[in-house]
Amino acid sequence: MTKPGKFISLEGVEGVGKTTNLEYIADHLKSVGKKIVITREPGGTPIAEKIRGLLLDHGDEVLCKESELLLMFAARAQHLDTVIKPALQAGHWVLCDRFTDATYAYQGGGRDFLMQDIAWMEGFVQKGLKPDKTILLDLDVETGLKRASKRSEPDRFESEKKVFFEKVRQVYLNRAEAEPDRFSVVDASLSLSQVQEAIKIQLDDFLSKE
Ligand code: TMP
Repeated sequence: MTKPGKFISLEGVEGVGKTTNLEYIADHLKSVGKKIVITREPGGTPIAEKIRGLLLDHGDEVLCKESELLLMFAARAQHLDTVIKPALQAGHWVLCDRFTDATYAYQGGGRDFLMQDIAWMEGFVQKGLKPDKTILLDLDVETGLKRASKRSEPDRFESEKKVFFEKVRQVYLNRAEAEPDRFSVVDASLSLSQVQEAIKIQLDDFLSKE
């Protein structure tokens, strides 16, 4: 797909400060004149948001891990078709709170799916479409979980144990190491202003290469 717009994703384990920094990224891109679409995964369309509810809510029935993986990609297919691809084609910058790196990290790392199976699904659903830039907010799991626990009731993922998130974090870091041009890793243990300064430097570098 030819895409005049750019696709930026924001990733990290729970409690790294994605929400605050997503707003910061959006404001910065707007300040340099970009038209942006802010969205999230799983979700981003009415159908995909319903799937998000199935994935995040604690239901009466246990959601098996195969269903979890397939639902992630079902939501993604809908999101790509309805929101992401049309926005990129219209020349907008899409800013997405999580994308497929989260599937590698959570389902591949956390749930132990084979990375090659996830890669097959990625190819089937995305047909080569990937984020142009991924900002990974990295933080030790204990600090992240402490921060996240101060928010609302834990959802299905937030209820996982520390070891699950250790694996998630490690896969994120491995992926960042394997694709250093696409990923920018930002140390989320710094103060908010230092984190945002680091994000700005990465964004400005990306903008300068446009
Ligand atoms: P968030 O909106 O707080 O990031 O919550 C979404 C949750 O879904 C988060 O715990 C990570 C999880 N998730 C996956 O397990 N796989 C995925 O592919 C995506 C996009 C999210």
